[in-house]
Amino acid sequence: MTSTPDLLHISNLHKSYQAPNQSTHWWPRLFNTASTSQIKAINGLSLSIAKGETLCVVGESGCGKSTLARLVMGLEQPDQGHINYQGNNISGLKHKQRQDYRQRMQMVFQDPYTALNPRLTVLHALVEPLLYHQPQLNRQNAIDQAMAQLLAVGIDPALAQRFPHQLSGGQRQRINIARALMVQPEFIVADEPLSALDVSIQAQILNLLAQLQQKQQLTFLIFSHNLAAVEHMADRVAVMYEGQICEIASREKIFNQPQHPYTQALLAASPQVYQAPNSHHKLVGDVPNRIPTQQGCSLQDRCPKAFETCRHQTPKAIEMATGHQVACHLVADPTSTDPTNHTQAELEQGDHHDSSH
Ligand SMILES: Nc1ncnc2c1ncn2[C@@H]1O[C@H](COP(=O)(O)OP(=O)(O)OP(=O)(O)O)[C@@H](O)[C@H]1O
Ligand SMILES: [Mg+2]
Repeated sequence: MTSTPDLLHISNLHKSYQAPNQSTHWWPRLFNTASTSQIKAINGLSLSIAKGETLCVVGESGCGKSTLARLVMGLEQPDQGHINYQGNNISGLKHKQRQDYRQRMQMVFQDPYTALNPRLTVLHALVEPLLYHQPQLNRQNAIDQAMAQLLAVGIDPALAQRFPHQLSGGQRQRINIARALMVQPEFIVADEPLSALDVSIQAQILNLLAQLQQKQQLTFLIFSHNLAAVEHMADRVAVMYEGQICEIASREKIFNQPQHPYTQALLAASPQVYQAPNSHHKLVGDVPNRIPTQQGCSLQDRCPKAFETCRHQTPKAIEMATGHQVACHLVADPTSTDPTNHTQAELEQGDHHDSSH
């Protein structure tokens, strides 16, 4: 972690949604008497981002990445906790400040096709946000800026009159990036910016993002499943599980010395980026739904290293080294494993003698 002051600081964030009504009978739904439960999409999450850095957030499907992206963008309000941008709580922003925040903070979405309005030409899509934020701007000036931005993202300005369906997926994602950059933001939130693209195009978009960041000193918060891409572009990596950060550290620390059993398992599932030592186990099962029915660590049923404490105490993040935080009882006290108390996961693996890291 650099010594630059935090640009964005998130503390103890919570966001729940109502779980879909499971009742098969019509009358509890009609009279709204069916028992309802809450899905905890974000569950006490804290993290900070320094100006100019790229923080990549990784985690399995359903762990809360898109929810966090929407909360950071101010598109949804948290139930609890704060998101401070340059010291200001974004929930408390007045209209003018909110508009200013929306300009500084832009989002690149996963699906470049649905992110663009099919009825607008490329030029129109680029000029629109600029004139919204700077209504006094001369239209020709806005068009000139759009053309320059197209060149900056590697798109031939001759494509400016095309509609989204007349472009390839890679071109569309470049246009989305150009559109986000039109208002000269300082912070980009990208939710799975590569996952809808062909592998060959992914590398090009990755390089484009890295180039733009260097040239314009942007700060990036990138959510991704793609560990190879994360290894390529992250300064720091946050590993997310069940709406919480279970490990956060520099890219080098995460890829060379992962400490949390979940981080180890996530990396072990990507042999092209990580050669897992034998002490790293695989997880079993899928991400459960986030209806909080049990105490203790949220990973306990899937973690081959879980022991008694994990069943009744939620682990707190501890600082292992400067900037390297891990929320795991075993990491907090490596001597504490109870070898007689193996999880179903461990038994299934038939490897309950190894509790070391
Ligand atoms: N608007 C909503 N209403 C109800 N539940 C929601 C809503 N948005 C998200 N959820 C639930 O919150 C949890 C987290 O969802 P989210 O989309 O943030 O996960 P994700 O990590 O982005 O997943 P993916 O990698 O598949 O995109 C999921 O269980 C999801 O079903
Ligand atoms: Mg998502």
